[in-house]
Amino acid sequence: MNNTAVAVIGLGMMGQALAAAFVNAARPTTVWNRTQGKAEHLIEMGASQAPTVTAAVTAAPLVIICVRDYDAVRELLAPAEAHLSGRVLVNLTSGASDEARAMAEWAAERGAGYLDGAIMMTPPGIGAPQTVILYGGSPELYEVHEKTLAVLGGGTTLLSYDVGIPSLYDVALLGIMWSTFNGFMHAAALLNTEKIAATDFMPLAGDWLTGVASFLTAYAHQIDEGEYAASDATLETQLPPLSHLLHESRIRGIDATMHEYTKTLIDEAIANGHALDSYARIIEHFRTPAA
Ligand SMILES: NC(=O)c1ccc[n+]([C@@H]2O[C@H](COP(=O)([O-])OP(=O)(O)OC[C@H]3O[C@@H](n4cnc5c(N)ncnc54)[C@H](OP(=O)(O)O)[C@@H]3O)[C@@H](O)[C@H]2O)c1
Repeated sequence: MNNTAVAVIGLGMMGQALAAAFVNAARPTTVWNRTQGKAEHLIEMGASQAPTVTAAVTAAPLVIICVRDYDAVRELLAPAEAHLSGRVLVNLTSGASDEARAMAEWAAERGAGYLDGAIMMTPPGIGAPQTVILYGGSPELYEVHEKTLAVLGGGTTLLSYDVGIPSLYDVALLGIMWSTFNGFMHAAALLNTEKIAATDFMPLAGDWLTGVASFLTAYAHQIDEGEYAASDATLETQLPPLSHLLHESRIRGIDATMHEYTKTLIDEAIANGHALDSYARIIEHFRTPAA
């Protein structure tokens, strides 16, 4: 199966990168996009352009689709649905777990195999050995196409038989990304008030993030065990430095709303009698916010 032909439907920024990786790996690649004019450089590289979505689907046993959302997937594939039987549809569009499960049923009703994938990378990283793409679906189906899918990223992994699980990991990881982005933006804004450039701050910030990631390992064990005894710092100990951060932000005119939210979480846990617990105790707020 090392030279399986592929069809790539959707040539946005991500779809173009996916198609280019297949062409670079010498896989016969057919491409199609709703709006014309996005396939030119792929054709120059050696891809074939299908005139219709049906022609794209029938050009290959492995059909990769990567568009804006799952509604667009269904809309696009509707004219070609009679031709999906016996093919494998790999949906790399971002979505939620319920959408992925519904899409798998839709594909099964049309006789198609289905893998759902979450791309944990931006387009320039597609094809790199460290690039992670998380898959859900039948292990047998995944095994057949694993080498072809690994062309898109060396860190390609089958997470679960359940096609909804990659989307769940995707949103969970993106949540970490956005909260980290906000932490960094706030910190850079603080330092900018003393004309310290974000690029000068970056080496310390990067090392700090590595340290913070190591704290999470201990918290993960505590979360799984439901025991939050502090071995590093208690919630109570974290209140004064958090207050300093809020004060420093206030005197410099920097928005600290996200950190005020952190204070409400710690205050709530302390009010509930958990002052001597570790930060891992805060998981209980997310599990039962009403409580
Ligand atoms: N870019 C990233 O860094 C990244 C990373 C991980 C995952 N993803 C996911 O990859 C998917 C594609 O992202 P992208 O960056 O390629 O987005 P994009 O550059 O905005 O491209 C969107 C693609 O979806 C198509 N599309 C949008 N609405 C459509 C509709 N109603 N019917 C048919 N086609 C429609 C567009 O076709 P037209 O050209 O005709 O508009 C285009 O091919 C998304 O689910 C995104 O979340 C992206």
